[in-house]
Amino acid sequence: MAMIAAKCPDIRVTVTDPNAQRIAAWNSDTLPIYEPGLEEVVLSARGRNLFFSTDVRGAIREADIIFVSVGTPTKTYGVGAGRAADLKYIEAAARMIAEVAEGPKIIVEKSTIPVRTASAMLTILRSNSKGGTFQVLSNPEFLAEGTAVEDLEDPDRVLIGGEQTPEGLEAIEKVVSIYARWVPREKILTTNLWSSELSKLVANAFLAQRISSINSISALCEVTGADVDEVGRAIGLDSRIGPKFLKASVGFGGSCFQKDILNLSYLCQHFGLPEVASYWESVVKINDWQKSRFSGRIVRDLFNTVSGKHIAILGFAFKKDTNDTRETAAIAVCRDLLAEGARVVVYDPQVPESQIRSDVLGSQENPNLVISKSALEACKEAHGVAVLTEWDEFKDLDYQKIYDGMLKPAFLFDGRNILPHAKLKQIGFRLFAIGKHV
Ligand code: UDX
Repeated sequence: MAMIAAKCPDIRVTVTDPNAQRIAAWNSDTLPIYEPGLEEVVLSARGRNLFFSTDVRGAIREADIIFVSVGTPTKTYGVGAGRAADLKYIEAAARMIAEVAEGPKIIVEKSTIPVRTASAMLTILRSNSKGGTFQVLSNPEFLAEGTAVEDLEDPDRVLIGGEQTPEGLEAIEKVVSIYARWVPREKILTTNLWSSELSKLVANAFLAQRISSINSISALCEVTGADVDEVGRAIGLDSRIGPKFLKASVGFGGSCFQKDILNLSYLCQHFGLPEVASYWESVVKINDWQKSRFSGRIVRDLFNTVSGKHIAILGFAFKKDTNDTRETAAIAVCRDLLAEGARVVVYDPQVPESQIRSDVLGSQENPNLVISKSALEACKEAHGVAVLTEWDEFKDLDYQKIYDGMLKPAFLFDGRNILPHAKLKQIGFRLFAIGKHV
């Protein structure tokens, strides 16, 4: 919304949420999320045509177009628990819009939702209308965290789906004309509603599948002497495969991949396609396996026990340049090591201590989980160090100094393949890197 406001000074954009603390943060000098370039975009429009407000009803009343961007977490209860998307916030939003709206409104689904949600929204909207008339569009978001501003500036495509009726097509055109202010027309794709809704889940499933594919091959590389980066480069040069998303890792994280695949697989099950469901579920299974394989490797290398040993974790965010920790592989790795009795000392340049504690421990306490203020401090007197996020600063730490401060033999586990492996070996580290025979 900040990007739309920045690009279209004549369009008034109001971002609204009942959470007063969150809205206050968006109105303050310290924005509540860390995202390179976002502050500049927000500041360029805030107070001019970009507003943050807790008056949800007022904002609905005034708007011509309403982007619904509420959470759609994985259901934790009842039918579909652990897989299906929980649509209670979508439904609540639709009911509130129906109650408040007086004239014609275009409702845009921005949240990631299961296919055919628009039809549920329309039913709720139209059967509760107090005089409002509604068109529901689907406009999924493809930005990635850490590069959100770049991705919004210059997207590969913008997808807008809507009902293929004269009113639906007119609504599509209205939203197209907003993006067309800065996105070339040929990159704005319009489809029917169901294709648009499904494409979002499928895009994420395909991306995650590539990572699970290369991660599965990383295990084979480790035992055969092949190098997963070399294999990735070799296959990526085939223009049919392409070079992106072939970087082996300790496992993908983030708010989308796992949730969307589980949701896709639940949909397949629901529509009587169990084979398709289990095909996609295996992408998540390999990801879980990769995380436990990594922590298992740490235990194995440290002479089959980490009990009472100090393991430093460098990086907790699910990828660099974000403070987001949702589904980060670091949670599973820290929990596994704590369960083995290790003292786990975590350092991340952006994630606050309280976040790391609640992610790993929930409401419990464990004196074996320690949060450190610097990489060097975290590694002091450690038996082993594991790099879990590819933060740039980890590439050129003073590894000689780190080595000197560690207990010997000093082990380093590179969960991202970003470290200078030859140099580290020269220093004397015992090294493990995903998909490498180092
Ligand atoms: C993803 C999609 O890319 C984006 O289009 C969608 O809108 C939201 O979900 P995001 O979760 O922000 O974006 O990050 P992404 O860059 O896709 O990375 C997801 C995870 O995969 C990260 O943990 C990342 O480290 C990992 N990853 C990515 C790999 O392990 N290897 C790769 O080659 C690429």
